[in-house]
Amino acid sequence: MNNTFWNLLFIGDVVAQAGCDKLKAALPALKREKQIDICIANGENSAQGNGMTPDSAEQLFSAGVDFITGGNHTFRRREIYDYLDNSLSVCRPANYKSDCPGRGFAVLDKGFVRVGVVNVLGTVYLEPLRNPFDCVDEAIAALSDEADFIVVDFHAEATSEKLAMGYYLDGRVAAVVGTHTHVQTADAQILENGTAYITDLGMTGPKRSVLGVTPELAIEKMRTQMPVRFQNPPGECCLQGLLVQIDKRTRRAVSVEPISL
Ligand code: FE2
Repeated sequence: MNNTFWNLLFIGDVVAQAGCDKLKAALPALKREKQIDICIANGENSAQGNGMTPDSAEQLFSAGVDFITGGNHTFRRREIYDYLDNSLSVCRPANYKSDCPGRGFAVLDKGFVRVGVVNVLGTVYLEPLRNPFDCVDEAIAALSDEADFIVVDFHAEATSEKLAMGYYLDGRVAAVVGTHTHVQTADAQILENGTAYITDLGMTGPKRSVLGVTPELAIEKMRTQMPVRFQNPPGECCLQGLLVQIDKRTRRAVSVEPISL
């Protein structure tokens, strides 16, 4: 382990069994090559079909993921509810009511470092949930004494809302990473007060797809405007995310490297 930095890898939305398989095949070598200390993945679409199940979550952990974040599909599968309540290494968006299953933020304790992880949903073009800016303020207040540094998975549709969140949290957290839109953006950067930022991490799943869905099915739905049962296509998969190097002294980001395999 490096004495000066922590290496944090944040992996974009893992989609379906194909995404889980890609992660299991590629992550161990990537972690060795990049000397990853902490690995967090968005798993809200990791189950076959949609949502997340205990089985798909366990597949992410067995691939080498330390912590799983969620999004607008986290509650789609009932079988995940008890798992969300019982696992301290999984979050669902903090904007949901406190009596919904699971938690919106948590401390990932790796022994050598305690990482505060916050998961929050955007509300532009998504459900009218609690204001995400208020939610992150509350989460940071609750985590700041317990964690060495904090990272935020902002699961949102609108680029503007994600950028605004990045600037809002600059200097208060080590990283703000966007998820949900599944296409890796070319704006990975360190903001002026030391917060790593990317509008979207990208996806871990089928390459020839529309956000993981077979293109022909997505086209049919958009052309006909009729309900279509989505499926994931066979074929080659990508693994995408962002590597963030965090200074152990300042607890702020010093470098970012987009990952796309
Ligand atoms: Fe999503």
